[in-house]
Amino acid sequence: MDMTRRPRRLRTDGVRPLVRETELSASDLIAPVFVDATADERVPIETMPGHERVPVGDAVSRVEEVLETGVEAVMVFGIPESKDERGSRAWAEDGVVQRAVRDVTAETDAYVITDVCLCEYTSHGHCGVLEETAETDPDLTVRNDETLELLSKTAVSHARAGADMVAPSSMTDGMVGAIREALDDEGHSEIPVMSYAAKFESAFYGPFRDAADGAPAFGDRRHYQMDPANAREARREVALDVEEGADVLMVKPALPYLDVVRQVREDYDHPVAAYNVSGEYAMLHAAAEKGWLNLEEVAAESLLSIKRAGADLILTYFAEDVADRL
Ligand code: PBG
Repeated sequence: MDMTRRPRRLRTDGVRPLVRETELSASDLIAPVFVDATADERVPIETMPGHERVPVGDAVSRVEEVLETGVEAVMVFGIPESKDERGSRAWAEDGVVQRAVRDVTAETDAYVITDVCLCEYTSHGHCGVLEETAETDPDLTVRNDETLELLSKTAVSHARAGADMVAPSSMTDGMVGAIREALDDEGHSEIPVMSYAAKFESAFYGPFRDAADGAPAFGDRRHYQMDPANAREARREVALDVEEGADVLMVKPALPYLDVVRQVREDYDHPVAAYNVSGEYAMLHAAAEKGWLNLEEVAAESLLSIKRAGADLILTYFAEDVADRL
């Protein structure tokens, strides 16, 4: 055996920490929080063990729980009291996210990011204004440019409520530019935009759609979210968001798309975010429940691998559990 080729020398307990390349820290993590205007008390989310939808009055205590674990940032999702064709509760001054964000920013030090989308607010569950032919022509469901205006109003209303950052997730062409312009016009030029830049049409969103009640009533999101087969197209999508002024670039989901995370990392100097989505959380929980995987270990390993691939920020339902043990 050639004694010069012994990588195992660097794997002893003493030296391993010195040569470790990637370290997870609570400050990398963003915890998603669900606020439900229809709830009087906390409602467990069955498909996402350990997570709950909380009433608006509990938003502050929910965020305080997150802060106690060392995680300093939250992503707020809202379930409105009512839905309509255009999703008008998304930009209402007294909407669920607006009310929760006002309370949370007044009473905690959390860094508050809001998801900007219409699918939880529209009666049909799509991420924008529908074409009249939507039910019969699944290739042409959402009216892109009309939707931009509604997303812009929503982002501005979140900023007015005190959001620190907005995160458009609807995959509407031009959404970053439209939102940036609207924020600037309203005096919110200090608010960064984290774009869900490469968001794939993924079956891993299933549990979230139950949690946020945002599943499309018909059809799917194939003509606005990206084809899971396409990494080169992701490069073009991300380039557009960069041109439009995105401050943070997100890839979503995370684990099945680590090649895309790495690609964005190499292409840009922007901070890269990855969304470890509901299905990625649910599948580990389900296997752990059967005793087939050790939940703590696979959760930490998953997040570490996302960071190793190049993500600076990780949105994850594991945020609190993993941070608690760091
Ligand atoms: C809203 C939105 C979705 C997710 C985040 N924002 C759902 C979707 O696109 O269907 C998914 C998050 C997750 O699965 O954890 N558009």
